[in-house]
Amino acid sequence: MGTVVWWLVTVLVVAVHSASAAVIEEKWEVEYTFWWPDCKEGIVMAINGQFPGPTIDAVAGDRVIIHVTNKLFTEGVVIHWHGIRQIGTPWADGAAGVTQCAINPGETFTYNFTVDKAGTHFYHGHYGMQRSAGLYGMLIVRSPKEKLRYDGEFNMLLTDWWHQSVHSQELALSSRPMRWIGEPQSLLINGRGQHNCSQAAYFTKGGVRECTFKEKDQCAPQTLRVEPNRVYRLRIASSTALASLNLAVEGHQLEVVEADGNYVAPFTVNDIDIYSGETYSVLLRTHSFPSKIYWISVGVRGRKPNTPPALTVLNYVDAPDSDRPTHPPPVTPRWDDYDRSKAFSKKIFTAKGYPPPPEKSHDQLILLNTQNLIDNYTKWAINNVSLSVPATPYLGSIKYGIKSAYDLKSPGKTFTNDYDIMKPPANPNTKKGSGIYNFPSGIVVDVILQNANVLKGKISEIHPWHLHGHDFWVLGYGEGKFRRGIDEKTYNLKNPPLRNTVVVYPFGWTALRFVTDNPGVWFFHCHIEPHLHMGMGVVFAEGVNRIGKMDIPDEALGCGLTRKWLMNRGRR
Ligand code: C2O
Ligand code: CU
Repeated sequence: MGTVVWWLVTVLVVAVHSASAAVIEEKWEVEYTFWWPDCKEGIVMAINGQFPGPTIDAVAGDRVIIHVTNKLFTEGVVIHWHGIRQIGTPWADGAAGVTQCAINPGETFTYNFTVDKAGTHFYHGHYGMQRSAGLYGMLIVRSPKEKLRYDGEFNMLLTDWWHQSVHSQELALSSRPMRWIGEPQSLLINGRGQHNCSQAAYFTKGGVRECTFKEKDQCAPQTLRVEPNRVYRLRIASSTALASLNLAVEGHQLEVVEADGNYVAPFTVNDIDIYSGETYSVLLRTHSFPSKIYWISVGVRGRKPNTPPALTVLNYVDAPDSDRPTHPPPVTPRWDDYDRSKAFSKKIFTAKGYPPPPEKSHDQLILLNTQNLIDNYTKWAINNVSLSVPATPYLGSIKYGIKSAYDLKSPGKTFTNDYDIMKPPANPNTKKGSGIYNFPSGIVVDVILQNANVLKGKISEIHPWHLHGHDFWVLGYGEGKFRRGIDEKTYNLKNPPLRNTVVVYPFGWTALRFVTDNPGVWFFHCHIEPHLHMGMGVVFAEGVNRIGKMDIPDEALGCGLTRKWLMNRGRR
């Protein structure tokens, strides 16, 4: 082809592209602010004075440019775009110490990335436990040709809330002996809950008082207004620090159609389980008779609940806003009915039209999680290493070949065969470390998450694991210890769901598969904020040889040893 023809083709492609793709550019200021998230005054991390932060509403293919200014007085900040794969822009992933330096107080950092694929996502702080402090918001990516049919939609961002400050929580968890933070005081829907004057308490005996909503009704529940005979899409995301949740809409069934930004084969349920880091879209069909109000209830699963359910109201057109149902809300299923939870997980299959996963993998990791004591500090470890994220972001140390920035030795690919997952760990070898797993580009990797007994008693906890930079196929769940060479035969290779977060059940295992098609450095960790704080994560470096050639803004790397590297070259 001649140059002119090439030029024409290029012009056409650019024209077609810019006709559909837009640029969403915003200036965000992050600061602490007094707020009444659950009708009790506390301090939240707000963006431009809003809590939760503003919703990003984009269309697949759009470019998102967010200038984040840190208006905190004494600490750094970053923002992670949970569910966005950051293809070609790993430096914009917003994981402190992994893909960038924390933004210093007073400084501005610009995230600039493409939202390549439609889906329901969210964003959140990823430095220390800032997600627990309320740094989060929704990130919706619409499809230019949506195949789902619905008349209206609502976003529901679910979180949990403590009255103890996040700084105090971080310190408590890092103390010797560790002081556990306990269950949250409230659950929030779109940043709103009602502590101790809860609508939930409305139906329990004794001392019910109406909330006096303060400060412009910051804690008043939103009313979801619907019309009869319509279909509504609820986009639900959980950014809880700890709680596993169940959501039910009284008198209505929910048709699950999307999970973590991928369509699933639709199935209908009375309620959904949702773990931290997961998102779902469900379709709700309204009834034909108007004048009705119904409870929407969100309660705790998987840990003995000590937190009342969050309630809000589904309100058909002609009921006044202030109306509340006069009957009790739906009851959250028993917290420890794990069979019920597993049954829900196992209903999720990919929608038609997605290609199946590759049939074989090239590499396999079996990641055992254990709770340990290291010098009497309580930690979580993966294959005997409790992750401590280094001062120099991995992405920078790898790009510039700075070998002293982290442990060059990778943690084990599996754990010893004789480890008894049903018993508290002996594990004398557990230590803190910053080693990572390295994968070449273009291979298929299997990861088996192996759960085990905690430090004391006969307990194994739920852990929702989230992978940055990728969607993965969930190939299966199993009980007990994974049997290498046997359990692989049970994998679902036909229609496994594509997700970015998956749960590992108590005393069980979960297997997932992904393709290393996105050069970068990707965090893979338990999405329970205190667990991550205590070391429950690993890091995958992928296509390392390509990272060297990648354009990474110097601003992402102005800390630790990369700062020195850039300074010596007169770049910083
Ligand atoms: Cu939403 Cu690394 O997490
Ligand atoms: Cu965990």
